[in-house]
Amino acid sequence: MALTIDGIGETRGADLNGTSDVYAQAIRNCAARMEGEDPLAAAEALQDELSRLDKASRSGAVLPRHVLVIGGAGYVGSVMVRELLKRGYQTRVLDNFLYSNSLSLEGLYDEPGFSLVMGDLRDEEVLDRALDGVTDVVLLASLVGDPISKKFPDLTRSVNQAGSETVFKALEGRGIHKFVFTSTCSNYGMRDSDEPADETSDLKPLSIYAETKVGFEQFLLEQGKTSEAIPTVLRISTAFGLSHRMRFDLTVNEFTAALAKGEALDVYDKDTWRPYCHVRDIAGAVIRVLEAPEEKVRGEVFNVGADENNYTKAMIIDEILTHIDGKVSYVEKGSDPRNYRVSFAKIKNELGFEPRHSVKAFVPELIEAVRSGLYLRSEEIPGYYGNYDVREEAAA
Ligand SMILES: NC(=O)c1ccc[n+]([C@@H]2O[C@H](COP(=O)([O-])OP(=O)(O)OC[C@H]3O[C@@H](n4cnc5c(N)ncnc54)[C@H](O)[C@@H]3O)[C@@H](O)[C@H]2O)c1
Repeated sequence: MALTIDGIGETRGADLNGTSDVYAQAIRNCAARMEGEDPLAAAEALQDELSRLDKASRSGAVLPRHVLVIGGAGYVGSVMVRELLKRGYQTRVLDNFLYSNSLSLEGLYDEPGFSLVMGDLRDEEVLDRALDGVTDVVLLASLVGDPISKKFPDLTRSVNQAGSETVFKALEGRGIHKFVFTSTCSNYGMRDSDEPADETSDLKPLSIYAETKVGFEQFLLEQGKTSEAIPTVLRISTAFGLSHRMRFDLTVNEFTAALAKGEALDVYDKDTWRPYCHVRDIAGAVIRVLEAPEEKVRGEVFNVGADENNYTKAMIIDEILTHIDGKVSYVEKGSDPRNYRVSFAKIKNELGFEPRHSVKAFVPELIEAVRSGLYLRSEEIPGYYGNYDVREEAAA
């Protein structure tokens, strides 16, 4: 069963009557971005848009940019969808609200250009409806994180690997321009070397989550050599930041919120490294890829994050304790052996992309948010605030 809701606001782009209107709108959008943005990125966005429209005009269907975000109601997605709308893109979400997380889209239904298809990406009829009329696809939906994938191994394989393959195969023949897949830096697993991992480093997936991400990456990079849609893999750092679907099961958010609430915190393996990236920067990286020329992104893998946001767990605690007092116990040999630092030179050098947000600046922001009561009732609906359990009907 699929439920479709079209934004009740006036659809952005609905007044574009013909091909020349769509071209004119695309040029106006890109020109507007020249102010206040990296001029090279803005110029490349125009180049990419014109090349997309040129291809589309040969197939006879010239449409304004319309991005489908699969998993757009999640922690990263609910921020990304709003950024895409702000940028003037029609934006559709396909999501099955696995964590009863439909609240994250509240306020969007009267946004011009927004629509929702509620359903499972593995359902062909749902997918067909979601893909109708879109020009680009961002695949976020999956079971995200080691604990939830361990708890639901079959569902994880079915959604993250088989389901993702079904989605990509369904794009062929639809004139889809870009396909962006959010993978994870967890794929680097446990590194023997102190050198930061780059995109060519060995992958050592240590969980079903990472195994399925590596599996789909491989499928995509192979298919992407000849596919109509231009695929790109983004290996994303562990996310932090405020979101419409907040997650408190992610290290920076979890540690900061617990100490801000005055809870005692056990921290396992304090010297293990991990890179972090703000949710708004993740949205920014996806948008940069959507707007980059084909030759820079087809079949490419980019790590997403910033060198200065590589932290050990102890460094995050130190950062928090510069603002508030807290009780922390360090424990060795926890159940998560991941330890990796990552290099973000490629995305910086090739796409000019640099995150704008730091762990250092976010920690006091979250302390303030928690202490001022923003998440007062989060304990009453813990399922909404992290990937702990799934909605039964969505788990079949
Ligand atoms: N959050 C992080 O720290 C992090 C780090 C690295 C990579 N990523 C990647 O970013 C993406 C988004 O992560 P997130 O933190 O927003 O996760 P999330 O769990 O908050 O969001 C996932 C969304 O996908 C939806 N979904 C799951 N299965 C579905 C299905 N079968 N059909 C339709 N919708 C389905 C869920 O309802 C949810 O809204 C994922 O691909 C993840 O691997 C996240």
